[in-house]
Amino acid sequence: MGEPRSTTGVTHAGKTAAIRLGHMAVQMAPSILSADFARLADEAEAVAGVADWLHVDVMDYHFVPNLTIGLPVVEALLKHTALPLDCHLMISEPDRWGLAYAEAGARNVTVHAEALQAPVRTLRLIRAAGARAGLAVNPATPVEPYEDLLPEFDMLLLMTIEPGFGGQPFLEIVLPKLRRARALVQRHGASVWLQVDGGVNEETIERCAEAGADVFVAGSAVYGANDPAAAVQALRAQAQRATARSAWHG
Ligand code: DX5
Ligand code: ZN
Repeated sequence: MGEPRSTTGVTHAGKTAAIRLGHMAVQMAPSILSADFARLADEAEAVAGVADWLHVDVMDYHFVPNLTIGLPVVEALLKHTALPLDCHLMISEPDRWGLAYAEAGARNVTVHAEALQAPVRTLRLIRAAGARAGLAVNPATPVEPYEDLLPEFDMLLLMTIEPGFGGQPFLEIVLPKLRRARALVQRHGASVWLQVDGGVNEETIERCAEAGADVFVAGSAVYGANDPAAAVQALRAQAQRATARSAWHG
């Protein structure tokens, strides 16, 4: 189910209906990778009240060829925003560092399948520390090998670009995998969010929702817009409409 969002007008009755129907509401997670890193508190504030989570891309220059922010910045940001932090760890040692982000207070901690040595242990440690656990897969990584792990995580992140940089074009080739992932989740009756990350914008978000995504990360489409809050609201409306007409939903 969604985060409480008193400011966005989601009623208790509406949420109850969504839960009864066995599906979860659209979640919007703007990525601060495209924000001004010197003004992170202000950039978080710019989407407070319209976003569900703030997506934080942690990169270590090893798992991906880019270096962004780490634990000290996440800890600082937590003091300056009420938005839950959705930490996406693109790092080569998630087994070593994932727990620290959960302990720091991140609401979601997502670790990459390609980098995990002990996925079950690490996902359990993240949950035990009070965060939700996410498993991320790159475009070339299949989801089927993780079917038995479905009870161990709360969200599956399907990268729709090669990770490392914002502003890359959306990879259409991931859509069949997204449909298979939605079918897997439904077959197991699992309450696992399906998150798409990379190239999600007004041109692509509806196809993602129709294929089965219910959590949408958008970096350049939000922070590259003149009005980031309006961009989040417009993308959410598109995702909601596409979800309502999709085959998987309802
Ligand atoms: C890239 C990150 C994404 C990035 C997406 O590896 O994981 O979260 O911010 O940026 P856009 O939305 O611009 O593709
Ligand atoms: Zn990301």
